[in-house]
Amino acid sequence: MILSIPDILSPEELALGRKILEQASWIDGGVTAGHQSSLVKNNLQVPQESETSRKVGEMILRGLARAPLFMSAALPKEIFPPLFNRYAAGQSFGSHVDNAVRHLPGGRGAIRTDLSCTFFFAGPEEYEGGELCIRDTYGVQKVKLQAGQMILYPSSSLHWVNPVTRGARVCSFFWLQSLIRQDERRSLLFDLDVAIQRLAGDNPKHASVLELTNSYHNLLRMWAEL
Ligand code: NI
Repeated sequence: MILSIPDILSPEELALGRKILEQASWIDGGVTAGHQSSLVKNNLQVPQESETSRKVGEMILRGLARAPLFMSAALPKEIFPPLFNRYAAGQSFGSHVDNAVRHLPGGRGAIRTDLSCTFFFAGPEEYEGGELCIRDTYGVQKVKLQAGQMILYPSSSLHWVNPVTRGARVCSFFWLQSLIRQDERRSLLFDLDVAIQRLAGDNPKHASVLELTNSYHNLLRMWAEL
């Protein structure tokens, strides 16, 4: 499932995040690349352990925690601390696969990357090119979202970032381990949750709301990996 999620940050938080990132010191993006991806990666990143990454990253994590659409679609178990990248004219990231396992900073263990996230700090009018391209069963999905929106997609997909030809594309990117490992099970739970929420909104006293909610939690109980 590929899903875009709006309004994770308030307009004030988005503006503050952009301002902090404008003043950040950027380094070669190869630092977090695996062997295959390092061969095709050409961008800049904010150092992982910097004050900038911590500050803006925590703001994004707080935003995610209050975003019901994200929680329902991702069912996160653990989220990697957000990283930040910048593609200026001439920069791109060729087709690659994200590492299946990511070690958390500070020796805090590792996560399995079930879902990849890209949060757009720059709007589509600020740069040309720079589409995130994700290969799925329906072909290649090209993603270029409004500032403040985030895309969620299976980490198992091959993906790349088209060359930026004008302006700069500034994003946050990170991964998460979900309580539900398989994409199709997670998608089924998400569809069921959306339908229950709609039914509960239209007809809160309908007996099926309780019964379907029970089935949702029983499926979650059957499949969740804690
Ligand atoms: Ni990637």
